[in-house]
Amino acid sequence: MADLATLPEEIVRGVIDPAAYGDGRTAYESFRWLRANNPLGRAELEGFDPFWIVSKHADILEISRQNDLFLSGARSTTFTNREADERVRQMTGGSPHLVRTLVQMDAPDHPKHRLLTQSWFLPQNIRHLEERIRQIAREHVDRMAELGGECDFARDIAMTYPLRVIMEVLGVPREDEPRMLRLTQELFGASDPELNRSGAGMGDNPNAMAELQAIIADFFMYFKKITDERKADPQKDLATVIANGQIDGAPISDFEAMSYYVIVATAGHDTTSSSTAGAIWGLCEAPGEFAKLKADPSLIPGLVDESIRWTTPVKHFMRSATAPYELRGCQIEAGDWFWLAYPSGNRDEEVFEAPDEFRIGRNPNRHLAFGYGAHLCLGQHLAKMEMRILWEELIPRLETLELAGEPKLAVANFVGGPKRLPIRYRIH
Ligand code: HEM
Repeated sequence: MADLATLPEEIVRGVIDPAAYGDGRTAYESFRWLRANNPLGRAELEGFDPFWIVSKHADILEISRQNDLFLSGARSTTFTNREADERVRQMTGGSPHLVRTLVQMDAPDHPKHRLLTQSWFLPQNIRHLEERIRQIAREHVDRMAELGGECDFARDIAMTYPLRVIMEVLGVPREDEPRMLRLTQELFGASDPELNRSGAGMGDNPNAMAELQAIIADFFMYFKKITDERKADPQKDLATVIANGQIDGAPISDFEAMSYYVIVATAGHDTTSSSTAGAIWGLCEAPGEFAKLKADPSLIPGLVDESIRWTTPVKHFMRSATAPYELRGCQIEAGDWFWLAYPSGNRDEEVFEAPDEFRIGRNPNRHLAFGYGAHLCLGQHLAKMEMRILWEELIPRLETLELAGEPKLAVANFVGGPKRLPIRYRIH
């Protein structure tokens, strides 16, 4: 058995601190140290339950594929401290989750709920959206042209494009989109003072939990209206599939339907906007890759995958063990808690050559940005399709591309990516 020395506090803080992702450097340095020195290490910090940091690609896969041994729903699926965990349990009457979406479920409920929409998300089904998505992509490329050669690509394009797509998919009218954008940013940006409601960091904000509850209540109120409408008047959209969903012959509850909207509405755009902005950032950092892409548009799918790997919009999910298990020479006990460090797995030197470099020609590109196993991202084909379509519309018209200022990253340890990306370009 390996020596179970706990990890140095500085390294652990470099993994859990939202600011470590915001500066674009600290988290990656911590991950590099972990992969080299203690790839599966135990973290013990005042105020937190002990947890393991899983930094190697192979170990993230090994845990993620065994959904019976490593549960999603038994404890909080995202990292939390003891105090916040207790408050959530008090509010919910014992559950560690404020919402009950697919990511908080395990078998037997998880496969039944996933089945409700799984076929809707398959490539052959979402193909019918291609023309509509292309129109949305063209509007965004035209907007870039109108902006006259300089824009903040993250704010002006990457944030609104996936939002427009997912709202179309859910059947949310255009005039309600700003409200949805604000709500998702507040939900995911709870630790980013620029994005959350009070303007304070999570640690400094005594009302953080009440704010989170208010945000979720807003979501629920909004989608309750949509559910009622789709029950009365079914359409061909995903909202209709959710609103009329049945499990074991009984309709799903309003709470479960609302949770489904929350996961689709939130998982469906902040993630994709991060990797969309990440693609343009990567091309600015590696002008040779931009030239290759201009010369050979068949490299677009490679650009899509590489931008998702390089950005890794989802920074972690948690799992907890149901039984003793041995991994990488370490003894794991039932109840142990795991931080799956996707950005670390996606920069694992054993799997990716020159992992910090942005290379659109990686083939294969075995990134794990969409997770793995039973919870593998349901929206991955949609995310890749919408990014591909945007690049098919933009790249042929884009003649030059460079950074026009300092990019800024979201201060977030769960979902995040570039939130400011000033660029200069020539477009026709
Ligand atoms: C680049 C974009 C995206 C990334 C990086 C991403 C990442 C992820 C990851 C890592 C998980 C795994 C959760 C776990 O293991 O617990 C996941 C699950 C999920 N994603 Fe995505 N996602 C993206 C886009 C989307 C889109 C566009 C949608 C929907 C429209 C979506 C819907 C979902 C859903 C519903 C789940 C839960 C699946 C389950 O628990 O069975 N995602 N995603």
